[in-house]
Amino acid sequence: KVTKEFTANLPKAELHLHIEGTLEPELKLKLAKRNHVDIGQTTIKEVQKTYEYDDLASFLAVYYPAMEVLQKEEDFYELAFEYLQRAAANNVRHVEIFFDPQAHTSRGVAFETVINGLYRAVVDARALNVDAALIMCFLRDFSKESARKTLLEALPYKDKFIGIGLDSDEHNNPPLKFARQFEDAAAEGLHLTAHCDIDQKDSIEHIRQALEIMGVERLDHGTNIVEDIDLVQFAAKNKIGLTSCPLSNGYVSPEMKGKEVLELLRQDVKVSIHSDDPAYFGGNIGDNYYAIAERYNLTKDQVVKLARNSFETSWISEEKKALYI
Ligand code: ADE
Ligand code: ZN
Repeated sequence: KVTKEFTANLPKAELHLHIEGTLEPELKLKLAKRNHVDIGQTTIKEVQKTYEYDDLASFLAVYYPAMEVLQKEEDFYELAFEYLQRAAANNVRHVEIFFDPQAHTSRGVAFETVINGLYRAVVDARALNVDAALIMCFLRDFSKESARKTLLEALPYKDKFIGIGLDSDEHNNPPLKFARQFEDAAAEGLHLTAHCDIDQKDSIEHIRQALEIMGVERLDHGTNIVEDIDLVQFAAKNKIGLTSCPLSNGYVSPEMKGKEVLELLRQDVKVSIHSDDPAYFGGNIGDNYYAIAERYNLTKDQVVKLARNSFETSWISEEKKALYI
């Protein structure tokens, strides 16, 4: 039987983790005080009381305003380094961290402040035996012009991140809106991934655009793909990674989507388990593995396969990959 200890100790790669979603109430309050930002709460209990959401939009409405406490390079460093210490304790050997520059530049924080702080933590994580890298996400509810501006701002720092992604509110914001930005990022040698959140209005069409037109290597969430046999076959054949987040799913839907994950394993699709926004969805990556294993009676072999998929679809070097799969 799969135990909590087993899932905690399992060596894993974290591929779906928003650094802004690791902002724990303690650090939120500490930074609010240090930066003189009034967030409207002064105790951990009060902060936790604001964590009320049952869909993507209501979650994002709590998520973005909290970022106001992140102001200086040191704040971004502390946010990332504290997360990386927790990841090391959870036996995360490799992590590809999403960050949302527009959530910061849109409120006057410079791009370089964000990336320099985060990247310094990535470098310092080597001492923790965690191999870390950054993925820059575009906010899909912002314009494509804003994404273009962000990409141009980011390119001078191209040695500090390995790929681009697409997140935030998917409703009426299809992947194709950013086709040119993805094309240009790929030409710069960057890896590509995109959120296709669960149960969206146009889930299958969005997955199709991301896979067939934009050539993404992974889909974040993306489990609605099970509704379309052709896309499932395409994903299996091309070893597309699907990064599912059970606890996050449980917040925005009645289901953790375990049946879909099991079906994808059966169809030989490279699905894996991740934590999304652990400070907001009540658990780290080990807890996410445990939650799905317990709820859907996964075997140890299935859990190990999910972890192996996480290394296999990661963007680490082939030599490092060979250590884990
Ligand atoms: N930003 C942080 N978490 C997200 C999620 N699950 N979907 C879309 N945008 C996000
Ligand atoms: Zn996400």
